Amino acid sequence: MSTLDPSFAQHLQEDQLIPEQYVDFISSLPTIGFYSQYRGFWFPTLFMQGVLSFQKHFQAHETDILMMTPPKVGTTWLKAILFAIVNRKNHLDLQKHPLLTNNPHILVPYLELHLYNKKEVPDLTPFPSPRLFSTHLPYALLPTSVKNSTCKIVYLYRNPKDTFVSLWHFLEKNGMTTDSFEETFDKFCQGVSSFGPYWDHILSYWKESLENPQRVLCLRYEELKEQPTIHLKRIAEFLGCSFSLEEETNGMINDISKLCSFDYLSKLEVNKSGTTHNMKIESLFRRGEVGDWVNYLTPQMSKKLDDIFKEKFHGTGLTF
Ligand code: A3P
Repeated sequence: MSTLDPSFAQHLQEDQLIPEQYVDFISSLPTIGFYSQYRGFWFPTLFMQGVLSFQKHFQAHETDILMMTPPKVGTTWLKAILFAIVNRKNHLDLQKHPLLTNNPHILVPYLELHLYNKKEVPDLTPFPSPRLFSTHLPYALLPTSVKNSTCKIVYLYRNPKDTFVSLWHFLEKNGMTTDSFEETFDKFCQGVSSFGPYWDHILSYWKESLENPQRVLCLRYEELKEQPTIHLKRIAEFLGCSFSLEEETNGMINDISKLCSFDYLSKLEVNKSGTTHNMKIESLFRRGEVGDWVNYLTPQMSKKLDDIFKEKFHGTGLTF
């Protein structure tokens, strides 16, 4: 039996909740399909407990590197890139690099989807400094300790059309939807998608990056794809671990770029089968291209997304 009155639960601050109240709190939230609406965003209900525990307990360190993404914008890729950049001095022999034998999601775990979803207060002491973690939470919903910290935040976003098409394939492959392509599209346009509304997710980090450029770096999938080495350099500089002249001359940036490329990662045995965080690993590597949406969206759908994003991003400086 529920111990929380639903209307009360809606107004309760999540940090006042005790774990025994999570289930009731979560079931009091508005739901659509697999999603629950919480503070203006749609979360997979399956991970709501992890979201609440993460918000309540995570203590950021000043040295932390946190990578934030909406789903399907290249999270797996960015995990590989950040891991390789930050740990490059420990893995000079690329033939023995951890990315050859570990999926990037193992090397850079999700906080709310993995660590805090498994345990109310996970033991994070085994993670060496600088700790490298990932989350799908929008900026406004990050734990206070993150917002008050000077830790570095790297954010990645992507053209909404490719993001949607990628999301659709992912949901289908993992049996996470019973909706048709068109129904999923309509929901996406209404903001109902994993960690959506997608536009609000992007705007939350974009605004923060304008106010605090030394703390939040926003990257775009398409730019990263077009000029990976330039952006790898930018990322390393932002993180305070710039590539030295010697590293540049020795081809280190190119090597990391190739190691993390779609062609290379997707062909590794470790990325071809099995599951991680309830996802089929193979579904994380589909095409990895820019503009694949033309094969799926009708001209009307394309226009609809153009109109929505033009309106939402008007005056923000954000374009696709
Ligand atoms: P597509 O479905 O368009 O192919 P996420 O990692 O956030 O779930 O995003 C998945 C998307 O990133 C998929 O896009 C996937 O193919 C693409 N992707 C995965 N690894 C990549 C890489 N190394 N380089 C570029 N894109 C990659």
